[in-house]
Amino acid sequence: MIEVANRLHTVEEYYFSKKLREVNLLIASGKPIINLGIGSPDLQPPQKVIEALTNGLLSPNAHKYQSYQGLPELREAMAVFYKTHFSVNLSANTEILPLMGSKEGIMHISMAYLNEGDGVLIPNPGYPTYQSVTKLVGAKPVLYELDASNNWLPDLKALEQTDLSQVKLMWINYPHMPTGAQATETLFEDLVAFAKRHNILIVNDNPYSFILNDTPKSILSVKGAKDVCLELNSLSKTFNMAGWRVGMLVGNSDQINHVLKVKSNMDSGMFYGIQKGAIEALKCSKMWFSTLNSVYQKRRDLVWQLADALKCTYDKNATGLFVWAKLPGNVKAEEFIDIILKENHVFITPGTIFGSQGEGYIRFSLCASTEVLEEAIARVK
Ligand SMILES: Cc1ncc(COP(=O)(O)O)c(C=O)c1O
Repeated sequence: MIEVANRLHTVEEYYFSKKLREVNLLIASGKPIINLGIGSPDLQPPQKVIEALTNGLLSPNAHKYQSYQGLPELREAMAVFYKTHFSVNLSANTEILPLMGSKEGIMHISMAYLNEGDGVLIPNPGYPTYQSVTKLVGAKPVLYELDASNNWLPDLKALEQTDLSQVKLMWINYPHMPTGAQATETLFEDLVAFAKRHNILIVNDNPYSFILNDTPKSILSVKGAKDVCLELNSLSKTFNMAGWRVGMLVGNSDQINHVLKVKSNMDSGMFYGIQKGAIEALKCSKMWFSTLNSVYQKRRDLVWQLADALKCTYDKNATGLFVWAKLPGNVKAEEFIDIILKENHVFITPGTIFGSQGEGYIRFSLCASTEVLEEAIARVK
């Protein structure tokens, strides 16, 4: 028996990877499961994106290795996207690194910046990958608690009362998943000042800015942010391209180069046709976002009805691809979702997979049609 590396003992298989096996077994046994768990967009990308990919296949360059930094016109399209939607100026040559989804960026950034034992501030609740990647690189997760009473924003004053001397990096994610909380006007400014005071690299993971949100924000719009902040963005949710795997890292050229040093040793470029499709997506007008959001709005109304039927409460001002709902009384999230899965054949994510602060909460995905959501409501009623 060949022993695995010690680092493998620090993490568990991703919750959805495990739970979806169970859900798939139920489906295979004939149960009519409605999956409101994972946030994988079911809507189509823009048609011109699919055409660009298809045309790209015919290019004589399509099948070669591609540049480690992506096509210059892809970086240019990303720069224009940031300028148009976030009013952030980026050099297409030096301040943008296209990624195969933003998830891989979490590993690359961690490999580029973290030594064994370094502290990493991680939101609780938060996207589980921040914590598992931190552990895989041998760094130390330092969880910071978010809660509804503070609208799921970090309490920087309280954090400053703790020992931050070992902390090197802080993950933030606004609009926040799973809660849908938005950063306030001043939060990003406060975070940049905090990062400078404590010499911490802040990375804002920003894949949900355009979903049910009229005011997309980038931390890089704050003056001086490029000195201490990076930002990840993604085409997965914004353009319904989760399976294409396209994201980006933006920040100052030194930081981009550090991450490129890791990434260029990991892969050999993004498929040409995918880059051509991504360029078209990034050029979409505001019309794309309003059409997309009108679909999500209708779905969210139904998910609110579903949450009402389950006697949950929720914040109608929250944004993003999910509805984050508080269970009644002291009901435990995992017990609750197992009952609903067994009795109503509806799969919902328990808040606890995002950390202990998710206890008592569940997360509904908006990636299901209105017909499916109506069926879910009928079942739980
Ligand atoms: C908070 C957060 N960050 C990053 C990702 C990864 O997205 P991508 O598809 O760009 O890798 C997700 C995906 O669910 C997410 O919820």
